[in-house]
Amino acid sequence: MEVYNHDLVILGTGLAGLRAALEAAQQSKGELDIALVSKLQLMRAHSVAAEGGTAAVMRQDEGDSYELHAWDTVKGSDFLADQNVVDFFVHEMPGEILHLDHWGIPWSRMEDGRIAQRPFGGHTFPRAVFAADKTGFLEMQTLYDTLMKHTKNINRYDEGFVTSILIENNRFAGLTMIDMIHGRQVLIRGKALIIATGGAGQIFGFTTYSETVTGDGLAMSYRAGLPLKDMEFIQFHPTGLIPSGILMTEACRGEGGTLLNSNGERFMGNYAPSKMELAPRDMVSRSEMTEIEAGRGFPGPEGLDYIHLDLRHLGRERILERLPLIREVTIKHIGLDPIEKPIPIRPVAHYTMGGVHTDIKGHTSIENVWAAGEVACVSLHGANRLGANSTAECLVWGRVVGEEAARYCANASAAEMPKTAGQEWAKIEALIQSKGTEDHYQIRKELRKNLDASMGVFRTGEQMQAGLDKIRELKERYKYISLKDKSLRYNTDLERAIETGFMIDVAEVAILGALTRTESRGGHARRDYKVRDDDNWLKHTMAHFTSGGPRLDYSPVDISMWKPVERKY
Ligand code: FUM
Repeated sequence: MEVYNHDLVILGTGLAGLRAALEAAQQSKGELDIALVSKLQLMRAHSVAAEGGTAAVMRQDEGDSYELHAWDTVKGSDFLADQNVVDFFVHEMPGEILHLDHWGIPWSRMEDGRIAQRPFGGHTFPRAVFAADKTGFLEMQTLYDTLMKHTKNINRYDEGFVTSILIENNRFAGLTMIDMIHGRQVLIRGKALIIATGGAGQIFGFTTYSETVTGDGLAMSYRAGLPLKDMEFIQFHPTGLIPSGILMTEACRGEGGTLLNSNGERFMGNYAPSKMELAPRDMVSRSEMTEIEAGRGFPGPEGLDYIHLDLRHLGRERILERLPLIREVTIKHIGLDPIEKPIPIRPVAHYTMGGVHTDIKGHTSIENVWAAGEVACVSLHGANRLGANSTAECLVWGRVVGEEAARYCANASAAEMPKTAGQEWAKIEALIQSKGTEDHYQIRKELRKNLDASMGVFRTGEQMQAGLDKIRELKERYKYISLKDKSLRYNTDLERAIETGFMIDVAEVAILGALTRTESRGGHARRDYKVRDDDNWLKHTMAHFTSGGPRLDYSPVDISMWKPVERKY
């Protein structure tokens, strides 16, 4: 085993990870020795797939305000967001837009040169700052380019597949990592760890996420003893392309696109008359499913019945200027030009509102560990995230945790050499040598299908119980998997197998939390408990790892600004 020592270890190189690295490097004037660890090549993190925008209050002179952004976020969250966290967020966000501007991002602009903003679902003001429909990609590139000014002390571990987070004596002690390029076992040590590994969308079959988003950081944190919070709240984005699930950005509707059923009706008027297609995502997704279930959808492949997203009336020029990626994707993937024809779409798994529990500063329950971005649950989004608040969260808490962890490192020493790394390697050796008869690819396939069936836009106790039983069956079968490739160098068979183990753990936590929560709130819509129940369920779910499965307990929600009211649009 090779051992590498650094000051700060950042696991994950999406928006949150890069923003954290940049802040830590700047804070320390380049003196901090930073490790950037990713199972991918750096610019391939899933954040590059973010399309439509990043929310911030930039036009107070025209009527937007911090209070309005905060209220929209809290109402959108179905009152499960921590309001002190939301208040902090909205005040921090404009600064992040300006930082990126100064670092050279090509924001889309208005005629007079000001940064343009477009409407987004659930926001009462056009608040999404954007770069055409490639916002995440250009934010990533800008952060990466700027970070490159600090190359002296930035150490990249691209294609380093981390298998465990070692916590010993209540401190982060190291990461065990397979260096995929050279096939080596590596231990990465540091004084502090930032976890920024993104979500877990691949636990669903029909999803906007890339193949790589398998919940690794969530599962490793959970196994290491960090509680996962509010994992039952999964966001279904209203417009996933049929049949792949690729994101058709909410910016399509922000720019004026409409949703039509098979009768050609703009049905959102029946569900959210004041907001129409720009109601929050949980509501639009439920409305679409209601139309499809009532027989007003179009028949699609493999049960993926769909409705239409119509952009034709926007005109060629606007589509080419504002939505070039959407056009490119629909032409490439389904041979359809949205200038001429409506796009077939339906709700698609898009985001995990829950994650590793942190406080308002992104600090976990372990002294030298922080988490930021989608992997974390700082409780900004509650039960339903507003569009454009996710890239924003990555920027704000990337900066915050970068600053906090850098400050910590300046006065800390590394934990002792971990004693448990050997056990982790022994598990991996055993997996490589296993002669089990189960196929982990098949297990992953069944897991994803199972989640689609039991944890969709609408849920019932019966479906979720069946889903949980199936996960437990898969968990048992997973003990008997074996590999075809016995090497370590670029062993994607091993990597996929370990990822599938992570996915099973994350799925079990999500479905148990959902089954236990006997109410409907935000993205958690139960047919058997149709209403929100603040008396019993205005609380965060916390899932703790035990060898027998998750143990749940609950923590309070901060409602210091607004009391929960009925959510109407
Ligand atoms: O629709 C979108 O462009 C997605 C944005 C988001 O999830 O915030």
